[in-house]
Amino acid sequence: MKLDVVLGLQWGDEGKGKIVDVLASEYPVVARFQGGPNAGHSIHFEGKKFVLHSVPSGVFRDGSINFIGSGVVLDPVIFREECLAIEAMGVPVKERVVIADRAHLILPTHRIIDAASEAAKGKSKIGSTLKGIGPTYMDKTGRNGLRVGDILTPDFKERFLKLKNKHIAYLKQYDFEYDASENEQAWLDAVEYMKQFEIVDGAYRVNDYLIGGKSILAEGAQGTLLDVDFGSYPFVTSSSTSCAGACTGLGVSPHSIGKVYGVFKAYCTRVGSGPFPTELFDETGEQLRQKGFEFGATTGRPRRTGWLDLPALKYAVMIDGVDELIMMKADVLDGFDTIKVAVSYEVGGKQTDEIPYDVYAEVKPVYREFKGWKCDLTKVKSEDQMPSEFKEYIKFIEDYLKVPVRIISLGPDRDQTIVRN
Ligand code: GDP
Ligand code: IMO
Ligand code: MG
Repeated sequence: MKLDVVLGLQWGDEGKGKIVDVLASEYPVVARFQGGPNAGHSIHFEGKKFVLHSVPSGVFRDGSINFIGSGVVLDPVIFREECLAIEAMGVPVKERVVIADRAHLILPTHRIIDAASEAAKGKSKIGSTLKGIGPTYMDKTGRNGLRVGDILTPDFKERFLKLKNKHIAYLKQYDFEYDASENEQAWLDAVEYMKQFEIVDGAYRVNDYLIGGKSILAEGAQGTLLDVDFGSYPFVTSSSTSCAGACTGLGVSPHSIGKVYGVFKAYCTRVGSGPFPTELFDETGEQLRQKGFEFGATTGRPRRTGWLDLPALKYAVMIDGVDELIMMKADVLDGFDTIKVAVSYEVGGKQTDEIPYDVYAEVKPVYREFKGWKCDLTKVKSEDQMPSEFKEYIKFIEDYLKVPVRIISLGPDRDQTIVRN
């Protein structure tokens, strides 16, 4: 059996949650492999909306296994809150969620360090979600972190206090007010709650699923342009958001990877700081934000908006080895007379279709214009109902990226999804 991967190809919030929920009916196991509660994955079905942060987006499918892999960082308080809300919807969450013992724990003091570090950076802040993601991965690679498996050891509380004290010493460099014990009891209570879940050796379990004939859908968080190695560093997250992250985050070999699905919006958004060549600061940008409801699912921050950036998308397709594209939210472009797409950049007086190393470089997009389709795509149920202008838009993207658009999402609901042959 193979492990197929769903990845965001832009700066996150492409609609991965919706697509994983749709595809999950075909996969017995859905697995998160990186990131943590910086993610906000929205799912709409039967008139309900739910935003998932730590739990994989297959959880609403009967009989599903939702695996939280070794590469994930988990905040027990957020995890408990999320699980209780899912349970309140009648979903047997404890039967459906399995956690890898090697996943790292986000401590309350990791969140304080995140906030102190951002405050100290001032104008050059990353725009982090303030969930403690960066500091937790720092402790992981610095070999100081606490892992989910540690909660089952008798000296866990001492190890927790030791790390907390290390954080207090580290925080001395910042002029930042905080209460290191705030939320501590809630955190320890939530750790107790986590013990009710199945906690396993992640690599053995995931490989056993595959050997036992269970196909797995790996659910990426964030997007390739936020990857710690290949994104717009330092304006990135702290994990490997690209396809390779599925191997390191789950403990599977590259041979196990089957299909790679790349999810992108028909335009672009970004939340937080960093380069965004096609960003719009005008009325059109505001229209995209309002029509697309572009406000962060985790932080509520307004998302920056702009036209589709094909050189950036081509870069992500290359890094991830995308087999099939999934295009989201084209319905948001319904009302526009003209739709623009960046096909190359002008950097330092030269034309290029490559992303520059320097995140502060002035990048001027070169656009190609398309005639808008000016009709309501949310009502479209099959390919033959699509207006010719929309088909032309899709064809251009496919030709540019040399990858087929296999699925088209035309609304937030499960049912507003067209699978092409
Ligand atoms: P994720 O982080 O990649 O899962 O994406 P988010 O959930 O953060 O943001 C995507 C937003 O777009 C959510 O509010 C979705 O409900 C919504 N959405 C998903 N697909 C579509 C679509 O095709 N059309 C419209 N209008 N909204 C969509
Ligand atoms: P999903 O999975 C969009 C952004 C933050 C910030 C940068 C670093 O919903 O697509 P972090 O908290 O990770 O240290 O923040 O990354 N970011 C996201 N942007 N969607 C996300 O997740 C994101 N997770 C982090 O805004 O710019
Ligand atoms: Mg999101």
